[in-house]
Amino acid sequence: MIINAKGGSGKSTLATNLASYYASQNAKVVLADFDPQESSLDWLRARPKSRPLIQGIAAYKDGLKPSRGVNYVIIDAPASLHGPKLTEFVKKAETFILPVLPSPIDMRAAAAFIKEIKSTGPISRKQAKIGVVANRARGYTNIFAQLDEFLSGIRGVTYTTALRETQNYIRAAERGMGIFEFAPGATGVDREEWKPLISWLGSKRSH
Ligand SMILES: Nc1ncnc2c1ncn2[C@@H]1O[C@H](COP(=O)(O)OP(=O)(O)O)[C@@H](O)[C@H]1O
Ligand SMILES: [Mg+2]
Repeated sequence: MIINAKGGSGKSTLATNLASYYASQNAKVVLADFDPQESSLDWLRARPKSRPLIQGIAAYKDGLKPSRGVNYVIIDAPASLHGPKLTEFVKKAETFILPVLPSPIDMRAAAAFIKEIKSTGPISRKQAKIGVVANRARGYTNIFAQLDEFLSGIRGVTYTTALRETQNYIRAAERGMGIFEFAPGATGVDREEWKPLISWLGSKRSH
């Protein structure tokens, strides 16, 4: 589940790129869009027929039923989930990815949200793992250094990676593809940045 209380942090970007990555590895992937804005579903509509198939679900209205023979279910969560709704919602997943932007407002919101999500039942009982991702990183800026330090210091969550800000994600979004589906030359840096996140997702333990 890709989740964060704040809109615009990169939830749909991560959800769609992850779906594209696993699909390119020949996995059967479901992309469940719980956001009525349908960004993930729009992305799927733009996806070329020649690319590996990803099954989209308009989960915000149709719900999410267990699907047989599926390797990965990726949930694109809506923004502004709090309180009892959040507690109910997190039961749908066992692994959580939170993208956070290098901005004071986003960092504050993320700190509050991480506190809240950690206090929900399944997560507080350590049955789930949480990874954070610094998104739209611009190296060597003061605000990125602050984000990096902030994410490194949160207890009980893994700081998995930092993804740079690049037009590659914009192009990928337009074309219904992921950065892994573009020529390695253009996206080599980005692929490297995804590696630690993907290996963390594949690991059993949270740390
Ligand atoms: N690393 C990035 N580099 C460049 N643009 C990005 C990056 N991550 C997200 N974006 C852009 O930022 C906007 C918001 O991202 P999105 O994934 O839609 O956020 P959310 O789903 O959390 O609202 C989109 O236009 C997206 O293309
Ligand atoms: Mg979104």
